[in-house]
Amino acid sequence: MSALSDVQGAQPSGSRTTKLAVVGAGAVGSTLAFAALTRGSARTIALHDVNRAKVEAEVLDLQHGLMFTPQAQVVGSDDVAVCAGADVVVVTAGAKQKPGQTRIDLAEATIGLMHQILPGLVDVAPDATYLMVTNPVDVVTYAALKISGLSREQLFGSGTVLDSSRLRGVLAQRCGVAVGNVHAYIAGEHGDSEIALWSSATIGGVPLLDWAPLGGRPPIDGAVRAEVHHEVVDSAYRIIAGKGATNYAVGLAGTRIIEAVLKDEGRIMPVSSLLDDYHGISDVCLSVPSLVDRRGVTDNVRVPMSDEELAGLRTSADSVRAVQKRFGF
Ligand code: 2OP
Repeated sequence: MSALSDVQGAQPSGSRTTKLAVVGAGAVGSTLAFAALTRGSARTIALHDVNRAKVEAEVLDLQHGLMFTPQAQVVGSDDVAVCAGADVVVVTAGAKQKPGQTRIDLAEATIGLMHQILPGLVDVAPDATYLMVTNPVDVVTYAALKISGLSREQLFGSGTVLDSSRLRGVLAQRCGVAVGNVHAYIAGEHGDSEIALWSSATIGGVPLLDWAPLGGRPPIDGAVRAEVHHEVVDSAYRIIAGKGATNYAVGLAGTRIIEAVLKDEGRIMPVSSLLDDYHGISDVCLSVPSLVDRRGVTDNVRVPMSDEELAGLRTSADSVRAVQKRFGF
């Protein structure tokens, strides 16, 4: 184990502090750790990666900024023991998506990796909530549930929280309003078959489908909605083509989910969880608006859907299930 695994810095004696373990010190893991550090999401952030040189370098770089962040400590190691006692374990380790690849192309390599790392993690952090942020996230979350034996509440995936943020961002820009005024979800696979839940979307309390444009902007009609959906689905491909990976927004999205757990928020987020008769869909991990609190995903919200949305969600479930089956799950 490296020296950086020693917990440094003053701890208030006897107090219970929160610990976040981030597994994988690549672009997503280290950005997520940075986002969590600057937001003050947890008192201790532990970074774990099998590449000792990489994890030590990332930890040092993060530690050197501690003077400018909320009080925290950053530790790291190539030894999984650094994750011991974590309240939340975020798994970002996985195959890297290359330009031209879909997320599904990564399934074999990432599932193989889950077989290697999850048993050791569950040994040292059996009571943690596990968040999977590695692709193809829905298939990997399903595989991780089977490999780890953890419950559907305790282990879930980041799903379409990021895609929903992308959707809200594009809609906010087109409508000329703040992102926080747009409530809209992407549901289904975090990937090519994902769907937009237009019928439940609202802007400033107005159903999106009734939205009257402000300031002479064009209406959000069917053609515009199709364009917006395409822009959201295509986002990651564009970013990967330009810079090789996506990291900032996924780091922030992951951090926001972690905070919902650590702060016991009861926040509704479209994370990927194992569905059980959700609009008739079962035995597949998919994103639908879900309740996230200290115990993890404690419920799925039965959002009313149009026939078209429901059909899209079912098609998405079928395509994710087909990949699961290919890998024997
Ligand atoms: C993203 O959507 C590649 O899944 C990653 O940014």
